[in-house]
Amino acid sequence: MTIWDEVVSYLFHDRLFMKQLEICYSPGLAPAYDFEEKTVVVTDIFRATSCMVSGIASGLKAIVPVLTLEEVPPFKEQGFLTAGERNGVKIPAFDFGNSPFDFMQAEYKGRSVVMTTTNGTKAIDCAKSGNEILIGAFLNISAVAKILRESSKDVVVLCAGWKNRFNLEDTLFAGALATMLSSEFDVSSDETRAAMLLYEQAKNNLLGFLEVSSHAQRLGKLNGGKDIAFCLKHDEFDSVPVLKNNQLIKYE
Ligand code: MLT
Repeated sequence: MTIWDEVVSYLFHDRLFMKQLEICYSPGLAPAYDFEEKTVVVTDIFRATSCMVSGIASGLKAIVPVLTLEEVPPFKEQGFLTAGERNGVKIPAFDFGNSPFDFMQAEYKGRSVVMTTTNGTKAIDCAKSGNEILIGAFLNISAVAKILRESSKDVVVLCAGWKNRFNLEDTLFAGALATMLSSEFDVSSDETRAAMLLYEQAKNNLLGFLEVSSHAQRLGKLNGGKDIAFCLKHDEFDSVPVLKNNQLIKYE
């Protein structure tokens, strides 16, 4: 081994120059993280970010995530479609709820949607101090990984969780993404290791592993079984929504 090889090995093996990938398990833990100068990947597997990915990949022009029901009417007046739920249940006055199949309807191509959900849109709002905000789901996981590899920025995966608490499905996505990037990123923090270990245990049967999760059970009672199976498909789409001027549009 030459001196140069030793220097390179020291620098990279000891991860001095590696980009860091951290995982924040819920918006409630966000005050403990610094999003500035980092790419934040927001994920809400069941179902908000899976809907956003499906909608943008299927030709929606933009999705505006908002926190409250009160913010929706001014967008509706401008011609936006309205989408959203509370506790998994569609808001009666809205055009559609929070199923990825709603967001993929051919008749909505080229339209813009205003959307409010229990946890997903809240997580996006919480990520706003980030340098760039990407929307991730199993449905576009390889496309997200590609962007992160090509960027020089550190990464925080922000799990939407459930009402500021941990959930299994977002953690598994974060663990899967960290596993994909583990040779290029420093994934040595405790929370990242924990998510990777969990993903390792669940990866051969994600659906079976997640059947008992709180939100899968909740959605099961609301006839959301078809959504759950779809949201766990990998790489159905190769595009990534990115937040620009408070709108989610296709990353280019
Ligand atoms: C959320 O934002 O909490 C969810 O996406 C809930 C849902 O499944 O509709």
